[in-house]
Amino acid sequence: MKTKITELFGIEHPIIQGGMHFVGFAELAAAVSNAGGLGIITGLTQGTPEKLEAEIKKCQALTDKPFGVNLTFLPSLTPPDYPGLIEVIIKTGVKIVETAGRNPAVHMPAMKEAGIKIIHKCTSVRHSLKAQDIGCDAVSVDGFECGGHPGEDDIPNFILLPRAADELDIPFVASGGMADARSLVAAMALGAEGMNMGTRFIATQDAPVHDNVKQAIVNASELDTRLIMRSLTNTERVLNNPAVESLLAKEKALGDELKFEDIVDEVAGVYPKVMIHGEPEAGAWSCGMVAGLISDVPTVKELIDTIMAEADEIIKSRLQQAV
Ligand SMILES: Cc1cc2nc3c(=O)[nH]c(=O)nc-3n(C[C@H](O)[C@H](O)[C@H](O)COP(=O)(O)O)c2cc1C
Repeated sequence: MKTKITELFGIEHPIIQGGMHFVGFAELAAAVSNAGGLGIITGLTQGTPEKLEAEIKKCQALTDKPFGVNLTFLPSLTPPDYPGLIEVIIKTGVKIVETAGRNPAVHMPAMKEAGIKIIHKCTSVRHSLKAQDIGCDAVSVDGFECGGHPGEDDIPNFILLPRAADELDIPFVASGGMADARSLVAAMALGAEGMNMGTRFIATQDAPVHDNVKQAIVNASELDTRLIMRSLTNTERVLNNPAVESLLAKEKALGDELKFEDIVDEVAGVYPKVMIHGEPEAGAWSCGMVAGLISDVPTVKELIDTIMAEADEIIKSRLQQAV
C-alpha cells in the first residue's frame, strides 16, 4: 500500500508502532520495521544518551530498514538530557523521531538540520495545527480511546480524525483503538494516511515484555480500562487492577486536593515491575480500550501481513461490491 506516510518514511506498509515505555526496545522496533512497518525505540526508557546509543546500535544490527526513536517531553523539575539524547539520535544516523508530550519546538532546528523527519503525537486538532506550524512532517492523531495519555478533550477518533483531515495540510496517522485491517481501512476513509498502534503491538511474540502482560491484554475486554490522574490534568488510560482501584478511591476521596505524592505508590517505578518482572497488578500501566479487540499473540510479521492482506480484501471486495 502506498500512502503519504509510506512515502515520507520510506516504509512498505502504513503501520507505525508508537513509542511505549519499557516496551519499545530494539527487538520490537526491529521486528516492526523488518515486517515493513515503522518500529520506534522509546528514548526515555533508556534514559541516558549512552544507553540510547547502545539500543539504537542494537536495532541497527537487527534491521536495515528505517526505524525511529520516540522522545516524550514531560514536565519535570529534573528533565532528562534531551539535547544529549538528540545528539545521539543524530550521531547514529536515525532519520525519524516521534515526539510526544510538550511542544518540541526548541529541539526542532537541531533535528531538522540533521535531515530528521518528525512525527508529533497529538490528542487535539489545535495541537496538530501547532505541530504543523513548528515544522513537523506529520502527526499521529491520538483519539480518546488510546492507551496512555489521551489529553483532556475526550474526543474519540470518529470525530477527531475527520476534523484533523479538514484542517491539516501535513499527513497524519490514526492512533488509539487501532488493531486490525478494519481499523486501517476505516482510518484511511476518515482521512488518515496510515495507523499507529500501541497496545496491539504489546500482545505480540516479538514484544520483549513478560508473558503475563500479554495475557492480561488478551484477557481484558473493552470495559477494562480506567482513566486516572484527571484532576492532575495528566489523564492516563490504564488497565484496571486492584492498585488502580485503590488509586481511584484516593482520587474520589481527595478530589481537587489530590497531589501526585498521594498516588506515588501506584504510579512510580511500576513499568519495570510490570513489563520485565511480569507483575501486571503492581500498579497503573497504560493500556488502550482496544484490548477488547485483542485475542491472540501473533508474531509482528503475522500481525502486519494479516492486516495488509485483509485490508486489501476489505477494499477490493467488500467495499467495492457496495458501490
Ligand atoms: C504501555 C504503554 C506505554 C506507552 N508509553 C508511551 C511513551 O512513553 N511515550 C509516548 O509518546 N506514548 C506512549 N504510549 C502511547 C502509544 O505510543 C500509542 O500512542 C497508544 O498506545 C495508541 O493507542 P492504542 O494503545 O489504543 O493503540 C504508551 C502506550 C502504552 C500502551
